[in-house]
Amino acid sequence: MDIAQKSTGAAGLLGERFSEVRNLSMRLAAPFSAEDQMLQSMPDASPVKWHLAHTTWFFETFILAQHARNYSAFDTRYTYLFNSYYKRLGGHPLRGSRGLMSRPSLEEVHAYRAHVDSALLGELDGFREEVLSLIELGLNHEQQHQELIVMDIKHALWSSPLHWDAIPNQRRERSAPCPSWIGIEGGIHSIGHDGKGFAFDNEGPRHEVLLRPFQIASCAVTIGDYLDFMTDGGYQRPELWLSDGWDQVQSQEWHAPLYWERHDDGSWHEFVAAGAQAGTRAVNRAEPVCHVSFFEADAYARWSGARLPTEQEWEIAALRTPTNGTFLEDNVFHPQAAAGDGFQQALGDVWEWTASPYLGYPGFQSAPGALGEYNGKFMCNQFVLRGGSCATPASHIRATYRNFFPPHTRWQFSGLRLAK
Ligand SMILES: [Fe+2]
Repeated sequence: MDIAQKSTGAAGLLGERFSEVRNLSMRLAAPFSAEDQMLQSMPDASPVKWHLAHTTWFFETFILAQHARNYSAFDTRYTYLFNSYYKRLGGHPLRGSRGLMSRPSLEEVHAYRAHVDSALLGELDGFREEVLSLIELGLNHEQQHQELIVMDIKHALWSSPLHWDAIPNQRRERSAPCPSWIGIEGGIHSIGHDGKGFAFDNEGPRHEVLLRPFQIASCAVTIGDYLDFMTDGGYQRPELWLSDGWDQVQSQEWHAPLYWERHDDGSWHEFVAAGAQAGTRAVNRAEPVCHVSFFEADAYARWSGARLPTEQEWEIAALRTPTNGTFLEDNVFHPQAAAGDGFQQALGDVWEWTASPYLGYPGFQSAPGALGEYNGKFMCNQFVLRGGSCATPASHIRATYRNFFPPHTRWQFSGLRLAK
């Protein structure tokens, strides 16, 4: 059952957004059975049920337990059980053991959500502004987990020994020549969030960067482009790969993006999952290539004679000509072909790997306390991705947003755009 709030003013608006975001998580999970929602197909991915509980834990731990006048925990054991990685809050279960949580049941997790929702909405009018900001953080946190729900259940269903049936192809061909190159002049540019509206701490401080003149592609690299790289021996030529990337290709026997399979007639097919509908279909040359690692993105760029943009270049280009692509709310959970002119798919469709290691901006400091663990402690051995994907909620993404993943990962909806 959907929740709704009754406050007015600033708290009322936030309450409305709270209800919307919380209801959307439940709707994303709804097509899946309790058995589906318990699956954990690898340590990086989490069960849907765990996401529903952990996002609730976040509101309980950082808002209700610390700032509510009157809150009694739904179950004190959950403080430990649904902590993800906040070391300063004491212990948490091993990440890879989340699929073992048959208890609490899905029904109990739903009751936990209802308990926290009603407690938070009941106290909303009495919260100070700084607590309302924490709720906004909690909502953005939940939106991140909405994308993880889509990624993780796709990987879990794909990992099933069940043989998936073919499903019909959605054909949308490219209507504009793509890519064309967009020139951006060199000089001193400002990047980072300007402080208006919500942003994560890692998007600031805003600062100046010196860029040389560059060109950036008007759209993401397509499956057609990527097939040319594969046909030209892309996965068999060590000279195209970073050393760690080549080791991955060899040890993981990579021949294509994640979720691709080659049929006997030589054609490539990919696994797609949209809600309860999952299956394989022939790849569409006009769509952006997706589920590639940083290593594959980098090798493709080298093969093509171009390179990946830095995150600074990407942000400057995206701020100039914002055009949006496909988001979570479009309910296709798959990137779509570009259709139009200008800088296409800046936000939505696929996250775009950049050449930039994930580091703090000059002057960055993690917040004090456990919430300081949110972003800062991951600034090592990861690369920045920009722009959001077809699994990102539209109200969650902006040009300054910095996502990050280790370079070998590819279960996220990640593609690339070229620069030169
Ligand atoms: Fe989380």
